[in-house]
Amino acid sequence: MRLRKTALAVAGLGMSLALAACGQNAAAPSAPAGSSAPAAPAAGAKVGVILPETASSARWEGFDKPLLTKAMAAAGLQADIQNAQGDEQKFSTLADGMIASGVKVLVIASISSESGAAVAAKAKAQGIPVIDYDRLNLGGSSDYYVSFDNVKVGALQGQGLADALKSKPGAQVIQIEGAPTDNNATLFYNGQQTVLKPLFDSGALKLVQMQAIAKWDNQVGGTTFEQILTSNGGKVDGVAAANDGLAGAIITVLTKVGLNGKVPVTGQDATPDGLQAILRGDQYMTVYKPIDQEADATAKLAAALAKGDKAAADAIATGSSDDTKASRKVPSVLLTPVLITKDKVKSVIDAGAVKASEVCVAATQAACTELGIK
Ligand code: BGC
Repeated sequence: MRLRKTALAVAGLGMSLALAACGQNAAAPSAPAGSSAPAAPAAGAKVGVILPETASSARWEGFDKPLLTKAMAAAGLQADIQNAQGDEQKFSTLADGMIASGVKVLVIASISSESGAAVAAKAKAQGIPVIDYDRLNLGGSSDYYVSFDNVKVGALQGQGLADALKSKPGAQVIQIEGAPTDNNATLFYNGQQTVLKPLFDSGALKLVQMQAIAKWDNQVGGTTFEQILTSNGGKVDGVAAANDGLAGAIITVLTKVGLNGKVPVTGQDATPDGLQAILRGDQYMTVYKPIDQEADATAKLAAALAKGDKAAADAIATGSSDDTKASRKVPSVLLTPVLITKDKVKSVIDAGAVKASEVCVAATQAACTELGIK
């Protein structure tokens, strides 16, 4: 163990992250006061994680929190996982507290690029490496980014909608997108457009309106959709909804006017509610993003960074993402999203992401039986 520590320390010499970690280690109980040893072992290292919201998607508390808890523990880290509940001030205060408590690494899924970048700058000024989790902070300075191929997520949504509408030439489409302050929302939209724009241009589909929804607010998404629908004379043939939460609010509106099940709606996150809506026939598809993989990659990266082992971190983050605002490339782990239509719902349950009991309820039991979900 002692030898290993020394080897890591030597390997880390001259690397800014290791030096940065050195400053932090002075306060850590594992390093003697005044020690010049640059790296502490990751074992037990404290990692701060800030999640953005609970209401924008069931994923953050339902999937990310438990899976990050498990992955961080498996990587030998002591994780402090908090949720900012959509409040940028709280996000910043949580980060201050974590920095003051001596975290070795900060992992942030931010509410907006701007507030996320500000937090990252503060952490980095204290020598704490930062991982952008799921959402890339444009104009930021985080060291790494772990997420999915988010343009692909949007392309799967676009493809799902195009497939569902292929026998309806000129079908009228409404697009309800995520928060403009979340770079992912832009990537999802761009991905959708790779499929939908040529169809709009050729007249195969007709765009009624596209609207981005601040803070991914599901309720606002529903009322916005309702207004667009009303001003279009109650006519809609398909809806590109950026996630399952927005899809759910839209389906509520469609149900009110008797169009649920007749109008394909897309989604994302493979939430229990989204999967139920698919089984009922009210939602056409969702995008399953294996959050366990996202949590695992983040924990492994954090463990490497907690040790000041930049080479190990770089070996994990072999992808790259464009920060178009800071004009830099951020080393990334970008995982693969999966298109889920009714016939594929079972695969999400088989993967262990959601329990059968969470999707098989009175309204979906017949579909569950038919699809062998139990
Ligand atoms: C995430 C989605 C989520 C959305 C709203 C995005 O940044 O990638 O999974 O549905 O935020 O929380």
